[in-house]
Amino acid sequence: MFPFRKKRVEEALVPPNPAEDRAIELTSEELRLLRQPRSAIAEQIRQLRNSIQALNPDGAPRTMVITSSVEGEGKSVGTLNLALALAELPRMRVLVLDADLHRPAIEDYLGLPHRQGLSELLRGELGLDQAVRATSVQGLCVMGPGRLPEKPSELLGSDRLKTVLSQLRQRFDYVLIDTPPALSINDSAMLGALADGIVLVVRMHSTQRHLVEQAYNLLENLGGNVLGTLLTAAGEPNQAYSR
Ligand SMILES: Nc1ncnc2c1ncn2[C@@H]1O[C@H](COP(=O)(O)OP(=O)(O)O)[C@@H](O)[C@H]1O
Ligand SMILES: [Mg+2]
Repeated sequence: MFPFRKKRVEEALVPPNPAEDRAIELTSEELRLLRQPRSAIAEQIRQLRNSIQALNPDGAPRTMVITSSVEGEGKSVGTLNLALALAELPRMRVLVLDADLHRPAIEDYLGLPHRQGLSELLRGELGLDQAVRATSVQGLCVMGPGRLPEKPSELLGSDRLKTVLSQLRQRFDYVLIDTPPALSINDSAMLGALADGIVLVVRMHSTQRHLVEQAYNLLENLGGNVLGTLLTAAGEPNQAYSR
């Protein structure tokens, strides 16, 4: 059903190569901000970006977790489009961090090869500068998940993650953290409590309301701060304005 839902082959990963990454054009149709920059969906994402910016008038560096109640609601695609919308602003430095160590998708949506990343960084096997990958889009960097660990929660729960997040705050204006669904995997709520804010992705007309409420309560009860929601599959009500 979903193109990237097939099991990830556990290959032996090598460190990223900056020249290789920068040369890759981002072509996926899912990247609405690049492919259909004037569509209603692109505008909706820019509105979310503007609201997030409005909540941060001082322009302080921010870490934000993107999550949803259940799988397939559009977290990964939403994370990338929000990152692209932020990167449209002048001098903005944005990092997309793929912290879904169960079903990562960021590298695949960007067409980037799987390389070492977050897991190796947290294990001390890769430096931060190597783990952060530039892309062909100005202002946009990514960090992939690296080799998927046996016990993702243990790796993400280590103190080292806090250090990594504070180092990333010094280098980027926004760090957007893609995560697994909140109701099935505890990692999102745990990461949400560490981050400055959470965006809850909700698939319209599909996800049951009580599940959204459950996810919201779970995230807030564990210390997270839900800043807003991103509605996906909402149709294109403003078709007349899109090109
Ligand atoms: N705004 C949207 N409108 C319609 N479909 C979307 C939207 N965002 C994502 N999708 C689709 O939903 C599917 C799952 O998206 P994905 O971001 O991988 O989900 P998740 O990360 O929440 O599991 C993809 O096929 C994607 O094309
Ligand atoms: Mg995903």
